[in-house]
Amino acid sequence: MAKVLVTGGAGFIGSHMVDALIKAGHKVSVVDNLSTGQKTNINKKATFHNISISDKKLEEIIKEEKPEIVSHLAAQISVKASMQNPMIDAQTNVVGSLNLLNLCHKYGVKRFIFSSTGGALYGEPEYLPCDEDHPILPLSGYGVAKRSLEMYLLGYGPVWGLPFVILRYANVYGPRQDPFGEAGVVAIFARHMLKGETVTINGTGKQSRDFVYVSDVVRANLMALEKGTGGLYNIGTAKGTSVNDIFSYLKQATGYKLTAKHGPAIPGEVGNIYLKSDKAKKELGWIPSVPLSEGLQNTVEYIRKTG
Ligand SMILES: NC(=O)c1ccc[n+]([C@@H]2O[C@H](COP(=O)([O-])OP(=O)(O)OC[C@H]3O[C@@H](n4cnc5c(N)ncnc54)[C@H](O)[C@@H]3O)[C@@H](O)[C@H]2O)c1
Repeated sequence: MAKVLVTGGAGFIGSHMVDALIKAGHKVSVVDNLSTGQKTNINKKATFHNISISDKKLEEIIKEEKPEIVSHLAAQISVKASMQNPMIDAQTNVVGSLNLLNLCHKYGVKRFIFSSTGGALYGEPEYLPCDEDHPILPLSGYGVAKRSLEMYLLGYGPVWGLPFVILRYANVYGPRQDPFGEAGVVAIFARHMLKGETVTINGTGKQSRDFVYVSDVVRANLMALEKGTGGLYNIGTAKGTSVNDIFSYLKQATGYKLTAKHGPAIPGEVGNIYLKSDKAKKELGWIPSVPLSEGLQNTVEYIRKTG
């Protein structure tokens, strides 16, 4: 049993991570400012601190909780918002993260797991699926900020003696997702469909993404508690699924009768991206296990129940 602090533990992925850690017998505390997360997502067995990672008072919490492991998921997650205002994005994703990192060093945290991105890091891919050696060219403030923290960890981690693992997620989807994240398309489409509302696909819908189910991502995080020190790993399925195909799968799962409307393509959006995760398989023992059809069905059932 370890003392684990989860930042962003009221959010989509973070709240599933908290549940899994508690189930595994760990003592969990959560830091979240509820900017996109929901208090109702937080496991009752976790201690909750409603505070921003940028706040100076974070030090009191780290001092009090004395976490051995920090799983850092808190972030400004809107790629679009980061393009409109990179400074607001950087305030959380760079400055807030550095505040946390600094405190982890100061109070002797033994392991730091960072939730980075694969989808927003590699730019327009030169080859597919992208492995971890693919050139990095983020096309958004969000991607630049995530890469910055990776660089701080890669550079300062060893100097500070702070063991870390970097996980670069593909497009994570599943229950509790809000419609604003990188893979928000599943949550957005399913909600509209269940309400009988029009669904708008940006551009042709032929753009493909790598959809990885949230429980698989949580499993990668649990493996990273013990393995992969100092490493960075893509966490994806190596398969691209087009937005049009997501529409069709969800149409079937929800019984939706309408056809999709096509809106303008999002400027700067990459055509196709999916991630090779062979390194995670080799070094963490991780492979994705939930098929897309099953994951989408679970997500639809969750939205049907919760609205
Ligand atoms: N969902 C994806 O497809 C995806 C893909 C790649 C990487 N990620 C990363 O995974 C992590 C979790 O993403 P998610 O999809 O669960 O998003 P989410 O918005 O549901 O979770 C983020 C959480 O961080 C909290 N938060 C935001 N700013 C904060 C701050 N300044 N201080 C404290 N808490 C703050 C929010 O309230 C929220 O609960 C993020 O770091 C995100 O960048 C997600």
